[in-house]
Amino acid sequence: MSETPAVGIDIGGSGIKGAPVDLGAGAFAAERVRIPTPQPATPDAVAETVVKVLDQLGVPGAVGLTLPAVVRHGIVETAANIDHEWIGTDAVKLFSNATGRAVGVVNDADAAGLAEMRYGAGKAKTGVVLVATLGTGIGSALFSNGELVPNTELGHLHLHHHGVAEKFAAESVREQHDLSWKDWAERLQKYFEFVEELLWPELIIVGGGVSKKADKFLPRVKLRTEIVPAQLYNDAGIIGAAHFAPRDVL
Ligand code: BGC
Repeated sequence: MSETPAVGIDIGGSGIKGAPVDLGAGAFAAERVRIPTPQPATPDAVAETVVKVLDQLGVPGAVGLTLPAVVRHGIVETAANIDHEWIGTDAVKLFSNATGRAVGVVNDADAAGLAEMRYGAGKAKTGVVLVATLGTGIGSALFSNGELVPNTELGHLHLHHHGVAEKFAAESVREQHDLSWKDWAERLQKYFEFVEELLWPELIIVGGGVSKKADKFLPRVKLRTEIVPAQLYNDAGIIGAAHFAPRDVL
């Protein structure tokens, strides 16, 4: 089956990254392009950069994009780690007008989680699986028998005595406070213990760029739930995004 690869674009706080994705293989069909995220990252500035990424890729067709925000029916509802101008923006309209293409827009962790479930650490896993991404914030993607429950915001849980989870245990917090792996793992322990008490998942997959260094912190996190590193690392966002490109126009 030869089909046009869908394009996936992952919009993050520091970079906007895109690649054509072979959805059968769950892999990039050509080299990825990365352009730094404009500052301030307003909707118009980001849309302009997305157009540049697409120009550099030079691949036609539908596009799936991620945002680090709740996105329902194309509308951005939150802006924890992005410019507040995004709230209320019709992101599907914004990006389809800017690019002239059919687009789908999805929460970044949901996209990365879907890619892990299809091609990575969650492949063929049934029951309740949680994918948590550790980066600037903490993203979450919840699956029941492989089916995504979109827009869970489990990085915003309030931990007893420690406040909002992502302000206590995100990867960016480890960097800012120069925490040792041991100290950070203790924070993750508190976070994941709380999460497993509430959700009783069968598997937790830990993603985000830092999952490459999982051996430094994950063995220290002891849970009743199996907890494993993601396998697609930073590619998961782009690969998952491509899944949300409208298929009927491919
Ligand atoms: C946002 C989520 C996002 C996560 C990871 C959180 O602050 O609220 O929507 O998935 O960061 O980027």
